[in-house]
Amino acid sequence: MTISIQPFFDRATSTFTYVVDDGTGDCAIVDPVLGFEMATGRTDPAPADAIAAFVAARGLCVRRLLETHAHADHLSAGPYLRRRFGGRLAIGAGIADVQRVFGNIFHLEDVSRDGSEFDQLFANGDTFSIGRLRATAMAVPGHTPADMAYRIDDPDGGPPAVFVGDTLFMPDVGTARCDFPGGDPRLLYRSIRSLLDLPGDTMLYVCHDYPPNGREPACRASVAEQRSGNIHVRDGIEEGAFVAMRRARDKTLAIPALMLPSVQVNIRAGRLPPPDANGTAYLRIPLNRF
Ligand SMILES: [Fe+2]
Repeated sequence: MTISIQPFFDRATSTFTYVVDDGTGDCAIVDPVLGFEMATGRTDPAPADAIAAFVAARGLCVRRLLETHAHADHLSAGPYLRRRFGGRLAIGAGIADVQRVFGNIFHLEDVSRDGSEFDQLFANGDTFSIGRLRATAMAVPGHTPADMAYRIDDPDGGPPAVFVGDTLFMPDVGTARCDFPGGDPRLLYRSIRSLLDLPGDTMLYVCHDYPPNGREPACRASVAEQRSGNIHVRDGIEEGAFVAMRRARDKTLAIPALMLPSVQVNIRAGRLPPPDANGTAYLRIPLNRF
């Protein structure tokens, strides 16, 4: 009857997916990855199949598929897993703004711009259940305007677990970039401080890890560890210094290799584009926009 959190790491995109099991057979899947190869345009279900095998072997019932945001570095496997297991596909309500911005850049007329591709849109503070688990959506804008973190309370009295999306990374990596359309380092700082106001033993589960100096990928650190050791935002680093650091650093970062395919799939809630009359589906490459 104990909550368990199983991480899966996709090395190609440095992304963590989580299966959160309530201990009685109900679970949620957070940020599942569908593989994609840019050179050939082929999708690869292998990362999602590893999660599917885990869920099937344990006979888990998938209640929810939670996206922390519209990712720009990998395609979502939400619809792929929902087809097999069911569950409600959810994201923050701010996805409508992200759909408007990128729907216009990519000129995608099939994208709703009201979030209706998803089964559920969360506002800040909305609560929901995963079997016997109680969860709360926390708006954490900054990396994108629509980022959500998901706090899961432990029914057995242990510290809560929070899936923080692209806000904090591991303490030795720092924080997420803020230079995508709608990103804002000031908002990210405030969002992160709201996470760091949680009790010190709260476990924060990151969406990515880019381990430096040959350390193995790691998926979680406590609030106390982040407050004392995060290289970008530990206690004592003020908002102005953080914003200056983030702006300078973001200028040095390359565009993610899979940004163009990821964004136009993920604002469709992970669905691939509708096929053309010849039966083939196409992604778009906007010229000279990025
Ligand atoms: Fe992201």
